[in-house]
Amino acid sequence: MEAKPPSESRTTLTDLVLPSETNPLNNLFGGELLARMDRAASIAARRHSRRIVVTASVNHVAFNKAIPLGSVVTVEAAVSRAFKSSMEIFIDVWVEDRESGRRTKANEAIYTFVAVDETGAPIQVPALEPETKIEKERFDAALRRKQLSLVLAGKMKPNEATELKALFE
Ligand SMILES: CC(C)(COP(=O)(O)OP(=O)(O)OC[C@H]1O[C@@H](n2cnc3c(N)ncnc32)[C@H](O)[C@@H]1OP(=O)(O)O)[C@@H](O)C(=O)NCCC(=O)NCCS
Repeated sequence: MEAKPPSESRTTLTDLVLPSETNPLNNLFGGELLARMDRAASIAARRHSRRIVVTASVNHVAFNKAIPLGSVVTVEAAVSRAFKSSMEIFIDVWVEDRESGRRTKANEAIYTFVAVDETGAPIQVPALEPETKIEKERFDAALRRKQLSLVLAGKMKPNEATELKALFE
């Protein structure tokens, strides 16, 4: 299987914040943003693997800035590293200023998707070949995040998490 760059999976979803999607402070409800990010990440994982994909884990979410009612929100997702059957997806969330059109980063998240066959069994995906500086940084740190996620899920023993241990040595 030929390696693919992140640009092949990059997915951009732009939508408004409607009244039914807000909390009592009139800001975007966190669960609605999680759903938008999951949809964008799912499309990115599908574009990279060309397979059925499922969300395996939400590794990180930072709700850094509230997003007010009426905002134009852009969710950008791309595969940041592919392992055997799993793919790490990095998601950046941007809000667009109405008058200037300038975009500011509001939030980010990291999800893990797994490619599966028709029976739901994990299946091999192509490798990822990062190209830009930020793609290379995200690629390099992805194994550490995968090990942390597996340790927290009870699927890896802490003493097997070599990349995590290296942080403290
Ligand atoms: C995700 C799923 C396919 C993994 O199946 P599994 O039996 O644990 O399979 P494996 O142990 O072989 O893991 C498959 C891959 O997922 C990775 N993985 C599993 N759990 C993970 C976690 N919590 N964090 C990061 N990666 C994880 C494994 O490391 C492995 O990666 P690799 O093949 O690239 O090395 C399975 O748990 C599943 O179908 N879950 C439900 C998915 C779903 O319905 N999502 C929607 C939520 S409602």
